[in-house]
Amino acid sequence: MLEITPNETNGKIDRTGKESGRLLVLSNRAPIRIISEGGRRRIEPTVGGVGATFLRLLERHGGVWIAWSGSKTAPAPLRMPPDEPRFSMVFPPLTERDISFYYYGMCNRGLWPLMHLMPQNCHFRVQHWNNYKAVNELFAKVTDAHASDEDRVWIQDFHLALVPALLRRHRPTLPSGLFWHVPFPPESFFRIFPWRRELLEGMLGADLIGFHTAAYADHFVECCAKICGAAVDRAAGLVRWQGRTVRVRGFPLGIPADYFAQMAQSDRVQARVRRIKAALGAVTMVLGVDRLDYTKGILERVEGFERFLELNPAYHKRVTLVQIAVPSRTKVDDYARLKRQLDELVGRVVGRFSSEGWVPIRYLYTQFGAEELVAYYHAADVALLTPLRDGMNLVAKEYIASQSADHGVLILSEFAGAAEELKEALLVNPYDMDAIAASLKQALTMSPVERAARMSALRRRVHSNNLEHWSRTFLGVLDHGELAPYAAGVD
Ligand code: UDP
Ligand code: G6P
Repeated sequence: MLEITPNETNGKIDRTGKESGRLLVLSNRAPIRIISEGGRRRIEPTVGGVGATFLRLLERHGGVWIAWSGSKTAPAPLRMPPDEPRFSMVFPPLTERDISFYYYGMCNRGLWPLMHLMPQNCHFRVQHWNNYKAVNELFAKVTDAHASDEDRVWIQDFHLALVPALLRRHRPTLPSGLFWHVPFPPESFFRIFPWRRELLEGMLGADLIGFHTAAYADHFVECCAKICGAAVDRAAGLVRWQGRTVRVRGFPLGIPADYFAQMAQSDRVQARVRRIKAALGAVTMVLGVDRLDYTKGILERVEGFERFLELNPAYHKRVTLVQIAVPSRTKVDDYARLKRQLDELVGRVVGRFSSEGWVPIRYLYTQFGAEELVAYYHAADVALLTPLRDGMNLVAKEYIASQSADHGVLILSEFAGAAEELKEALLVNPYDMDAIAASLKQALTMSPVERAARMSALRRRVHSNNLEHWSRTFLGVLDHGELAPYAAGVD
């Protein structure tokens, strides 16, 4: 068994000497990766909604985080953050074959496009599925080894869909919740998955299953009824399964809004904002920020921006699109192809429209740390976030939290989960180039009064449904079956 060092978490020590009453978080992706170079080890942050979310939660509340190390070596358990430890990290050992079959194969080439309704990117292979089952079993075993009876387990995302049922086999009474960070497709689409019933049965091992929106939750309940033959209560979000009742709800994920707002006002970030603006010159800045992923609609966005420039020559030399694209899953063919297509497309638009002293697109293929990113958010006059499909899109919320009260316009895809909440954004169909061009025009000509009214409504929403509220609400329902009184209000 892997050993962990008890830390100053919210837990107690039980009769067997194990810490108890803690939160055990499971995810595929850890918030950090450990790089070994020339006999030295350094820690780097990873990018993605799950890592960012639970890093902030566990830093605040303590607990244990069980996740893949990001490589084929499984380091000894770590206490995090290293200079002021608040929680422990445990790394189940994944082999090279696991990484190739489970992570790249089943997760990235199978389940990711399935959940995002992109059949052309789906590759389903039985060896990948068998390996996915084995890795889920490994996570369940490692969790069993570390959990005391007083703990509760919170499993994250589509990589670990089978863990709830596998863990229940080892530990029938251990409370467990599953949160799904990606969309869940309608039953008629989900049916294309060859192991559709097994996947649902795996998820139904949890006591509570959370999705970003009520629509995703409804799709899941419908799948349970039609594919598993389970008795369901659609209105209440309940599935009767093997003598238990599983609760299924929408819990829109929030961000630590105060953290972004305060960072945006700090001297260091403000100095970076001045540098970014000085480098761009006197142009209006439109910002896109995404992992370089085909679900994010980056090609369509650049084409929409090109259309805007075609239709609005008066804006030449006056607007620049800054696109931050973070390298992601680069070993998967579809991602490598997307990179080539984007390089080519940006080159074409830059070549077509650039003129003396002005480049219409600045394309940054890199990963930024929080301060740099917040400086870009704060500097941007418009955020153009147009995923073709996205579970939530935390970047949209981070942009809002980093803005000053009366500045900034958010243009958001109607197919991002965040669009359900962020109604004062300009919502756009990301497949419609003319609609993207028209939204840009609307954003750039919006009156200061309308802009401030929209942004302040968005800010109120992002601050009230924040990360703390989200986690308390989810855990309140897991612990009490219903909303605990303290979680029903907003922070
Ligand atoms: N992010 C980052 N550095 C970057 C770009 C993005 O740390 O250069 C973070 C960003 O702050 C956000 C996350 O990556 O928390 C992306 O989450 P989102 O839900 O928008 O998309 P995902 O990548 O999870 O699909
Ligand atoms: C999405 C998924 C996360 C994942 C992140 C980054 O947000 O929902 O589970 O961690 O993308 O992707 P990666 O494959 O690098 O973990």
